[in-house]
Amino acid sequence: MIFLKTDEEIELLRESNDLLGRTLAEVAKGLKPGVTTAQLDTLAEQFIRDNGGIPSCKGFEGYPATLCTSVNEQVVHGIPSEKTVLRDGDIISVDLCVLKNGFHADSAYTFPVGEVSDEVMELLRTTKQALYLGIEQAVTGHRLGDIGFAIQNHCERRHFSVVRDFVGHGIGRSMHEEPEVCNFGRRGNGIVLKTGMTLAIEPMICLGKKDVVIERDGWTARTVDRKPAAHYELSVAVKPGKADILSTFKYVEQVLGERYI
Ligand code: MF3
Ligand code: CO
Repeated sequence: MIFLKTDEEIELLRESNDLLGRTLAEVAKGLKPGVTTAQLDTLAEQFIRDNGGIPSCKGFEGYPATLCTSVNEQVVHGIPSEKTVLRDGDIISVDLCVLKNGFHADSAYTFPVGEVSDEVMELLRTTKQALYLGIEQAVTGHRLGDIGFAIQNHCERRHFSVVRDFVGHGIGRSMHEEPEVCNFGRRGNGIVLKTGMTLAIEPMICLGKKDVVIERDGWTARTVDRKPAAHYELSVAVKPGKADILSTFKYVEQVLGERYI
């Protein structure tokens, strides 16, 4: 069942997403070669709790941390660890959920660490552009497949591949609600989007092949060919004419300054 949100509920979602956006900025401040993903996790959890939120990935189906920190060939659900030290040239996808006022926020951002190769920067740029192209389709009367098509078309034209094993989702009082939001699809296919649907749109895009495997920790998804992958995610509300973006990259991009792509 798809829960349509009222304007009041959408404002609550915006509030939890604002806290999430500020948390991503704190993570961005802490990102440098030599830092461990466990250190990033600690600072994020502290920041969320200090600001009246709950890090809602922690404990979700047994997931052990606040952040998912997926480095290089890791696509999603990388578990923060004291053993994972970031190095110059890495990329790291940071994905998290924040619960506040009874509503879950969900957003992710892939950061370059130090100097990253041109082709990997192009992967990041393309994935973020694809997210915004998908969001452009999240308007009343369009269909779910329009979102997936926009994302897939943009990435495949640039010879990147779209992960099939993980998808976006509805979001609200639960972290994962219906419908599934695929990052691939056909124009005009799928359910009709209605005003008040709230969706987490999250392309996961690979430099090489789209196939992924789960590591022995039971969570970490990485590319089979061990080439890097990127992941950007924003939660949005479907509205007539233009999607309402509820998550925000504005804080994180202030921190990135000139490194913002
Ligand atoms: N933020 C993720 C998503 O986009 C959820 C993470 S699953 C968890 O759906 F188990 F790590 F919490
Ligand atoms: Co999500």
